[in-house]
Amino acid sequence: MDYKNPNLVIDQNNLQEGKVRWRSPSNIAIIKYWGKHGVQLPRNPSLSLTLDAAHTDTTLSYRPRQGVDQSQIQAKVYLDGKEEEKFSAKTASYLESLLPIFPFIKQFDFELHTHNSFPHSAGIASSASGMSALALCLCSIEDQFFQNLLKDDDFERKASYVARLGSGSACRSVYGGAAMWGKSGHVENSSDEYALPLNDQIHEVFKTFHDDILLISKKEKSVSSRAGHALMEQNPYADPRYAQARQRMYQLLQAMQQGDLDVFGRICEAEALSLHALMMTSTPPYLLLEGNTIEAIKRLWAFREESGHPVYFTIDAGPNLHLLYPDQVAEPAKAFIRSELLPLCEGSSYIADRVGDGPLQLEPNTDA
Ligand code: PMV
Repeated sequence: MDYKNPNLVIDQNNLQEGKVRWRSPSNIAIIKYWGKHGVQLPRNPSLSLTLDAAHTDTTLSYRPRQGVDQSQIQAKVYLDGKEEEKFSAKTASYLESLLPIFPFIKQFDFELHTHNSFPHSAGIASSASGMSALALCLCSIEDQFFQNLLKDDDFERKASYVARLGSGSACRSVYGGAAMWGKSGHVENSSDEYALPLNDQIHEVFKTFHDDILLISKKEKSVSSRAGHALMEQNPYADPRYAQARQRMYQLLQAMQQGDLDVFGRICEAEALSLHALMMTSTPPYLLLEGNTIEAIKRLWAFREESGHPVYFTIDAGPNLHLLYPDQVAEPAKAFIRSELLPLCEGSSYIADRVGDGPLQLEPNTDA
């Protein structure tokens, strides 16, 4: 798959200013992507549930540049109304890297207004929601000027591909429900270059899932995920890990088709612990879990043992715990979380989220 297209240059007579706006959600990986190569290509396939409450709203305004301007791409980024120079520079270089795919980028100056629904201090990565929102905005601009991404599949696949170039896990946020990314012999059309929607292939119960994100610590993490991916290149367990992820993907897909919550939960928790074991076996080793993360896991296991309720945890590259459970056990699960787990969270804070329907175009409003 190659999205390079030198023909996407807008005729001077049609150049005009405008804006597009997308809301795009974050996602939580069940099979984790950890380790990459080339240009944001994953070492193993991953699968995630798309969230709802944790999302980014991005408005991308574009204004024609005067004359043929070969100078650097101009992109001003405002986070909650405040200009962020660091993000402006990063966005400009991301847009520059996309020129072979969207040559029209150099015909405009850009202004980007972005807002995350979750506080920065919540320790939730905003890269998946933020990069997918921006990728969707760029595809909308292409669509407005060229009308060549008419089928939803084409539009979403390209948005997923472009989002991946910004942040790997962002490519999965383009689809609601469940999405997978990475070549797997068990899924037709799967690719390392973009994600695929899995919603038609999974049991309804997973679409009712809650994800309560327990904020064990709001501190900035000590090792970024970029550095974490890089450390996998020297990790002695890297190859067995990638084989393990592939095998788990196969088992998970079957469990999700059949609605087998037990197998889902077992794989989900094993993946979280494998991810953190990889961090502990990197050189130098590092640890992102906090004491309260481990205490919360033990309390959850005891609760499950006693009640039999299908409530499972997963963890991303940080100390916070995501508690996943189907809607049918929401009442006892929430009661347990409130009484036993919230005291372990910083400021007793958590975000109540659920599996969501995927991104939403806010402007131009296509329903109007
Ligand atoms: O997309 P990145 O480069 O921020 O990496 C994300 C890695 C994990 O969140 C830990 C796992 C995943 O698959 O989302």
